[in-house]
Amino acid sequence: MTDTAKLSAAGKDLDLKVMHGSVGPDVLDIRKLYAQTGMFTYDPGFTSTASCDSAITYIDGDEGVLLHRGYPIGQLAEQSSFMEVCHLLLNGELPTQDELDKFSYTISRHTMLHEQLATFYRGFRRDAHPMAIMCGVVGALSAFYQDSADITDPQQRMIASHRLIAKMPTIAAMAYKYSIGQPFMHPKNNLSYTGNFLQMTFGVPAEEYVVNPVVEKAMDRIFILHADHEQNASTSTVRLAGSSGANPFACIAAGIACLWGPAHGGANEAALNMLREIGTVDRIPEYIARAKDKNDPFRLMGFGHRVYKNYDPRATVMQQTVREVLGELGVTDPVFDVAIALEEMALSDPYFIEKKLFPNVDFYSGVILSAIGFPTTMFTALFALARTVGWVAQWNEMISDPEQKIGRPRQLYTGPTQRDYVALGDRK
Ligand code: CMC
Repeated sequence: MTDTAKLSAAGKDLDLKVMHGSVGPDVLDIRKLYAQTGMFTYDPGFTSTASCDSAITYIDGDEGVLLHRGYPIGQLAEQSSFMEVCHLLLNGELPTQDELDKFSYTISRHTMLHEQLATFYRGFRRDAHPMAIMCGVVGALSAFYQDSADITDPQQRMIASHRLIAKMPTIAAMAYKYSIGQPFMHPKNNLSYTGNFLQMTFGVPAEEYVVNPVVEKAMDRIFILHADHEQNASTSTVRLAGSSGANPFACIAAGIACLWGPAHGGANEAALNMLREIGTVDRIPEYIARAKDKNDPFRLMGFGHRVYKNYDPRATVMQQTVREVLGELGVTDPVFDVAIALEEMALSDPYFIEKKLFPNVDFYSGVILSAIGFPTTMFTALFALARTVGWVAQWNEMISDPEQKIGRPRQLYTGPTQRDYVALGDRK
C-alpha cells in the first residue's frame, strides 16, 4: 500500500499523503497544496473530493452496495426497524432490547410540539407546499428549544437530535392536515414511531384510528431506506451550515431546503408525476426518446445517480415493497405497470446502458406512498422526515471531530480584473 503520491506542480515536486479508509478508494491529502504551490484544485459538484472522514455510511456505487455502520441496507430493511436504524446511525451500534426500549421511549417523549408552533401553520396559505412549511417550521424550532442549542455540549446535542427525530413526524403530519383543512392530531405514544405518524396523518378526532400493520411495516421500511446516504447534497448542506456553529434546528432547515430540489429528494414527487403523465405503456418510447434528446431538458425522474453506477440497492427493496402494499390494499394502480415497463425498456436501451443509469430509490417510492394515500406533494416531506436521523448523526460526527473547521471552498475566478470606478454620468 503506497502512503504517498507524487505531484509535480508550479515547478515543485510534492509528496502528497495517501489516506486509507477501512474500505473504499484511497484519498489524496491535499490540505497543504495551496501553502506549498499557491494552487487550488478544481472540482465542481465535488465529483472527486472527500469533504470529511466519516464512520457512518459506506456506498460502493459500482457494486450497488450501501452499508450503515457496516450493515447492508437489504438486511436492515428486511430485519430491523426504523428505531433500531436510528439508534445505529446515531450511536454506532445496533441496540440491545433494553437499549431499544429506552431509545424508543426517549423519542416518544419528544413527539409533541410547543403549542405556540401550531399558530405558525395558520400563517401559511392552505395550498402551501409541505416542504415550504417544513423549511419554515423546522427553522422556527430554534426559537422554541433554545435550551438544547449549546452545540459544544454533547448531552445537549443528543437532546436536540432526539427532539428533531421525534418532532419531524408531527411537523410533517401537521403540514398535511393543514393543507386539507382537518384538525391537527396529537401524537399517541402507545403507537410505534411509524404507526403514530400514520395516525397523525390519516386519523381524525371523530374516530379511533386503527393502524394497518402491513402499511406500518412498509412505511417503516421506506423510512429505513431513506435514513442516511453519506455525503449527499442535503447532508453536505447540513454539515456546511453546522460548520459555522449554527444551531441544529437551523442546520436541518437548511438540509430540508436542499432536499427539496428535483435532482435530490424532490425526485420522488417528480417521478410519480412523470409516470402519471406517461399514463400508458404505449407512450413510454416517446418519453425515452425525450430523455435521450440532448436538446430536451427532460430526464427520466427516479433514474440515474451520482454514485450508483449499478442498481440502487434501495430501489430493489422498494420494488418488492410496492408489490406487498398494492396486494394488501387491493390497489391496482396502472402507474405501477408503467413503472415496470419503463424500467425494462430503459435498462435495455444502449443510452441508459452506456451511461449506467439505473432506477434509484425514488423511482418506486411514489407508487407505494400514493397507494397508502399520500398526495405527491407530501413525498419529499416524508423523505425529509426519514433523512433527519442521518442529518443529525452526520452533524454530531462533524461537531465532535477534532479536525472540524468551517467549510469554505475556494474558486477559480473568471470575472473582470481590478478596474476603476466610473462616475454614473460618465458611463456609456
Ligand atoms: N435521464 C436521462 N439522462 C440522464 C439521467 C436521467 N435521469 N440522469 C443522467 N443522465 C445523463 C446526463 O444527461 C449525462 O449525459 P451526458 O454525459 O451525455 O451529458 C449523464 O447521464 C451523466 O449525468 P450527470 O447529470 O452528469 O450526472 P450527475 O451525477 O451530475 O447527476 C442525478 C445525478 C441523480 C442528478 C441525475 O442522474 C438526475 O438528474 N436524475 C434524475 C433525478 C433523480 O432521480 N434524482 C434522485 C437521485 S437519488 C435520491 C436522492 O439523491 O435524493
